[in-house]
Amino acid sequence: MTQEKTQTAAPAAKAADAPAKKHRLLKISILRYNPQDPDSVPHMQTYELQESDSMTLFIALNDLRDEQDPTLQFDFVCRAGICGSCAMLINGKPGLACRTLTKDLPDEFTLAPLPAFELIGDLSVNTGKWMRNMSERMETWVHAKIDEVDLRKQEEPMDPQLAEDIYVLDRCVECGCCIAGCGTVRIRPDFVGAVGINKIARFRLDPRDERNDADYYEVVGDESGVFGCMSLLACHDFCPKDLPLKTQIAFIRRKMAEQGMGNYDKVLPTQKGKKAIPIKPIK
Ligand code: SF4
Ligand code: SF4
Ligand code: FES
Repeated sequence: MTQEKTQTAAPAAKAADAPAKKHRLLKISILRYNPQDPDSVPHMQTYELQESDSMTLFIALNDLRDEQDPTLQFDFVCRAGICGSCAMLINGKPGLACRTLTKDLPDEFTLAPLPAFELIGDLSVNTGKWMRNMSERMETWVHAKIDEVDLRKQEEPMDPQLAEDIYVLDRCVECGCCIAGCGTVRIRPDFVGAVGINKIARFRLDPRDERNDADYYEVVGDESGVFGCMSLLACHDFCPKDLPLKTQIAFIRRKMAEQGMGNYDKVLPTQKGKKAIPIKPIK
């Protein structure tokens, strides 16, 4: 009994002796601008906020809005890194606010909206509009071999490893972090980005999709697609879901290059009689 008491009492005594955790006074500078208001001018506004245990940027922003400034605009849905709506520039780098702990940030830091997307206001941007345009352009859905799906029929089983490989690429939450960090997007607004290239890689794996590389070449085989990528890999570094973007971009580029080389020898009707110029091998 005595021994039991000693064992349970020791951690409690230790906890009582431990110095209280130091909570900092955070200085958060937020880029404020409301494009709907003609009088609004972009400016940085600094707020002070007492940090709390396990505080995320989601909690910090909600505290700011509840207690200091109800006009502050930002987006959240899931608070768990699943919906992708809370992406923003955190001290200049794209990231998810709900997955960022304030303890990992300095006492003073900045928040700004993701670039490359239409600004709704303050930290809120319209990633949905961008993603929808990209999706429609690249037809990012399964192009089934059958015209009508019979819902009463059992689905064809899929090899578990293949299902896992598709799942890995399907974890994209369309947050826009890869687009916000992409140099090509800044110079080519029509660039489909790592998110678009990853989607092609995902559907290319899917045996239910009847498209082949010639079809994929039509949507991603030019400079607004995989050949516009400069391979600096900010997308890979900033993807909060750790998608293997580096390998997928390299793989799709190789497949599309092979497809392009294959097409090169084909003589178009208007070119009959002309010989294709041989491509010099890269040494
Ligand atoms: S690929 Fe990664 S960074 Fe890009 S939209 Fe998807 S989850 Fe976000
Ligand atoms: S590697 Fe390509 S897709 Fe990724 S950020 Fe750089 S240019 Fe954009
Ligand atoms: S709120 Fe859904 S990812 Fe952050």
